[in-house]
Amino acid sequence: MTGPASINRRRFLQALSAGGAAAVLAACGDSGDPEATPAAEPIADEAATQPASAWFKDTTPFIAHDDGKSLEARLENMDGLITPERFFFVRNNSVSLDVDVDSWRLSIEGDAVANPRTFTDDDIRALPSRTLVCYLECAGNHRAMFGLVQGRQAKGTQWKTGGVSNGEWVGVPLRDVLTQAGITDDAVSVLLIGLDAESPEQGFRRVLPVAKALHPDTLLAYGLNGEELPRDHGYPLRALVPGWVGSSNVKWLGRIVVSKERLWTRNNTTSYVLIGDDYAPEGQAPGKVATTQVIKSALALPWPALLNAGAHQVHGYAHSPEGPIQRVEWSLDSGATWHEATVREGQVQYSWARFDFEWDARPGEHTVMTRATDAAGNTQPDEIPFNEKGYLFNQPVPHPVRVT
Ligand code: MTE
Repeated sequence: MTGPASINRRRFLQALSAGGAAAVLAACGDSGDPEATPAAEPIADEAATQPASAWFKDTTPFIAHDDGKSLEARLENMDGLITPERFFFVRNNSVSLDVDVDSWRLSIEGDAVANPRTFTDDDIRALPSRTLVCYLECAGNHRAMFGLVQGRQAKGTQWKTGGVSNGEWVGVPLRDVLTQAGITDDAVSVLLIGLDAESPEQGFRRVLPVAKALHPDTLLAYGLNGEELPRDHGYPLRALVPGWVGSSNVKWLGRIVVSKERLWTRNNTTSYVLIGDDYAPEGQAPGKVATTQVIKSALALPWPALLNAGAHQVHGYAHSPEGPIQRVEWSLDSGATWHEATVREGQVQYSWARFDFEWDARPGEHTVMTRATDAAGNTQPDEIPFNEKGYLFNQPVPHPVRVT
């Protein structure tokens, strides 16, 4: 494991605080055109030079992907509803940042705010807070299944089922912060910008439509599972956008731009777009922009699993952005027949559900599939259309199990 990235953000953050606003606007592109090429130094040049495998947490409980940016959770490590931080998956597009909270600022600007302003960490924490149990899932979670199940590998990190975790988050509604900055009635897009490098010129960013940004459950989170937000997860402040693809949950937030226009950035044109024959282009995107996640379920077993013959209580997790999980079924014959699993109590707010079932496992090679249904009536489909970048796979997963 590589040690914590000691990234000196001071130069950038000093510029961000009083006296350097103009330099920062130049460095980030001005608020009228948040995607403009920076005129001054890149905002995250040092981050870009860090080794790509810089994590703060112990990586041993994870599947560490070769890209050096993805720590896949092992669901088999989890038993309760909340994912302990040491098992919580991580997905970075560059590296985890070590942000100096004393000089950190969050700026709110753009042509759809009447009172552009900056917030300190104390300012944020002085606002009324909310606690939400919410799962967080990468849009590419289950991507490997396109190859394993459909026989057509999609581009990108080959996540199996562990690009998801369930946390208890504390933060302030984004809308309270936007209200303090005087968001105007004609606002259309809210662009969240992280301090890390998506490219040498730009912080990682994602656009939210104003309705989602103003939803009372869309938070700026500073706590996870009763502790300070860990550095790998965006300390000191990240977005929490319940039900939306993981990339919307921007970590190490530094800047928010509110615009009267619909904004297009790399993460709703090049990335996080479903590209394929079944997906029509949308605006500047060559396909359908990935926004909400989809209903899924997975077993908390190693991949592949090895079990002794005999009775086993098998458990797993199911989640949907559309409502609580009502039903989970399991199948040993590729979905020809299904049996009821038990969905356990305790699923609140945007939590995932824990389910279990008893399996009298006979020796041999098996595939165990699960299929979830939510309270809104959505069920995992038998088949979904392919998309090039492998987002939002939610067919039932055939989990390989060898019983001896
Ligand atoms: N925010 C920033 N600033 N930089 C990133 O690379 N990755 C995004 C999102 N927020 C990312 C980010 C992606 S793709 C995902 S899936 C989630 O963070 C992962 O959150 P986690 O690492 O806390 O689990």
